[in-house]
Amino acid sequence: MTEPARIGIVTVSDRAARGEYEDKGGPAIVAELTKILISDWEAVEVVIPDERSIIEETLVDLCDAERCCLVVTTGGTGPAPRDVTPDATEAVCEKLMPGFGELMRTESLKFVPTAILSRQTAGIRGKTLLINLPGNPPAIHDCLMAVFPAVPYCVDLLEGPYLETDEAYCKAFRPKHAKKKP
Ligand code: MTE
Repeated sequence: MTEPARIGIVTVSDRAARGEYEDKGGPAIVAELTKILISDWEAVEVVIPDERSIIEETLVDLCDAERCCLVVTTGGTGPAPRDVTPDATEAVCEKLMPGFGELMRTESLKFVPTAILSRQTAGIRGKTLLINLPGNPPAIHDCLMAVFPAVPYCVDLLEGPYLETDEAYCKAFRPKHAKKKP
């Protein structure tokens, strides 16, 4: 039996990390991925403050030690002084994948003009794809649905597990020559 795909889910929020409010972002990502994925996966969930060094250490740990094929963050992508998630993400990635941020902002712009305030990005570290989502839970749905069709093929190219989606909910695209379901 193949092992479940490991997916890191990182809530970056000073108040959630201090326990001042319940983390709604992490559970929203878990709920969304549960609807999207029909192949086996397990979440590695963390809640941390908006502290650049802590975000970088957490992302590195999820990629290198926890061996996640995908790491998704929520929060800290705006212009406020404590919003540093994209900066930490860029610092730990070897390659940036600007198409993800471009598409997520384009999609969010259909709902709110403040979508342009999001600096969310994505990148590759080793065999892991990292993606920043905004902090607002409805925005998590909008952004994940926009980019997820391209995620399984990206993970294939990184030699990760074969991610299978529920086609009725979110249809993944793989080119014809892509690897087949094992
Ligand atoms: N995208 C969607 N779909 N819906 C939203 O409400 N909020 C925007 C933007 N993207 C928003 C959105 C706002 S106001 C900001 S400041 C940025 O995301 C960054 O949010 P974050 O700092 O919580 O990540």
